[in-house]
Amino acid sequence: MGTGHVGLVTCVTFASIGHEVVGTDVDVEKIELLQRGIPPFFEPGLEEAMKMESASGRLSFSTVAAEALRDAEVVFICVGTPARANGDANLLAMEQSASEIARHAPNGAVVVEKSTVPAGTADRVLTTLQREGGGREFHVASNPEFLREGAAMRDALEPDRIVIGIESDRSLEVLRRLYAPLLGAGIHLIVTDIRTAELAKHASNAFLAMKISFANALARLCERAGADVTAVADVMGGDPRIGRAFLDAGLGYGGYCFPKDVAALKRLSERLGYPLPLLDEVERVNEEAVEAAAAKVEEALWNLEGKRIALLGLAFKAGTDDVRFSPALALARRLLAAGAIVVGTDPRAASNAKDELPELELASDAYEAASGAHALVVATEWPAFRDLDLGTLKEIMLYPLVVDGRNLFDPSEMAEAGFWYYPTGRPPVVPLPAAAVSLPFDAVEHAAPIEQPSVTP
Ligand code: UGA
Repeated sequence: MGTGHVGLVTCVTFASIGHEVVGTDVDVEKIELLQRGIPPFFEPGLEEAMKMESASGRLSFSTVAAEALRDAEVVFICVGTPARANGDANLLAMEQSASEIARHAPNGAVVVEKSTVPAGTADRVLTTLQREGGGREFHVASNPEFLREGAAMRDALEPDRIVIGIESDRSLEVLRRLYAPLLGAGIHLIVTDIRTAELAKHASNAFLAMKISFANALARLCERAGADVTAVADVMGGDPRIGRAFLDAGLGYGGYCFPKDVAALKRLSERLGYPLPLLDEVERVNEEAVEAAAAKVEEALWNLEGKRIALLGLAFKAGTDDVRFSPALALARRLLAAGAIVVGTDPRAASNAKDELPELELASDAYEAASGAHALVVATEWPAFRDLDLGTLKEIMLYPLVVDGRNLFDPSEMAEAGFWYYPTGRPPVVPLPAAAVSLPFDAVEHAAPIEQPSVTP
């Protein structure tokens, strides 16, 4: 139930390991697209796999939940759990799914939460199933997903671990059977109680968000200390207790998961009487990351009114067309509000970005965006941007200014190409004016305060 990023990948994966899967969604248009073999979003490898599984007859889609549920041995709830205004996870779609299941699924069905939900949600799901299930028996379980957009198919078929939260032997038996091909291939299985599985998912996402915020806080510090945050992260990451992953400073985390999951864990902790102010700081540093990049653009350009800024990348990260909570769009909004003209480009996410931010101008590629621009900002780390011809870029831009919100470029290459280059958490490349270069070191160091010698008449 629910054919978003998680639900659709789950459907295709289970079909590909030999199960018969029927996907359903309240969004009729989405299901009609899927029935025609068109995924409603970009995910590498998904469309091909979906077509193959549909052709094999193992995978189908239905707009009618009753039809999808009628013979289900196991039901996965993969609906959205967006943040409410106060940060709580909105669990209305969970409840509505439970009601549908209670009405239409057969006796003995195992109902599995795949959506990310606060600890204790399964109890609510079970209560709804019992209240509305007309005396039928249901088993509830939790099986959180750890899929990254852009790598979701691989993450689903070769996960680091499979987590199953259960409270009945029947659930364990069914889920073991379901995952047998992956377990047979040696994937590690962790079996817990349901609340532990629910909490472990929130904890994992919040911890990853915390790593990113730690890196971004270090970036601010490195900028002040004249150090290089990428090298600091390499040194830290060389210690297996720390690990290098998710220590890339940049514009902060975005996307549909981290922002809402950090907020939801914060709210859960408050409700349980053990608030986690640590997460307030994670959020604060994350917001500051966008502001820090905007400040660099302002610093480099002086006034932003009427200045043309090329924004390279609009998706919340590379490899996806998803712009939900994209730091790139947050930065675009900030620059637009200051009066700049923002011309964005993205290999996949341009039209989604335009829907979300109509004031944004679109360019078909990086060169078109950069043409006549006063500055260029890297906002998403698409590998194709790394291969841009720096000489051409410099020639077509009005000013040779680059603010790199993702540390995509090599500072020495930028220096060689003659750019004024402002990376994140690394020393900027700012060519000294010719006159200053010939001054002795002390004079350069104290250039500003030195008084002009008075002219003796
Ligand atoms: C995330 C988790 O990585 C998945 O394990 C989880 O299953 C998923 O949320 C979910 O809950 O459904 P995803 O949102 O696809 O996956 O994206 P990530 O690859 O985790 O990146 C999240 C954000 O952090 C992006 O904006 C990315 O650019 C940013 N990031 C990541 C950094 O700024 N620095 C890093 O070092 C790593």
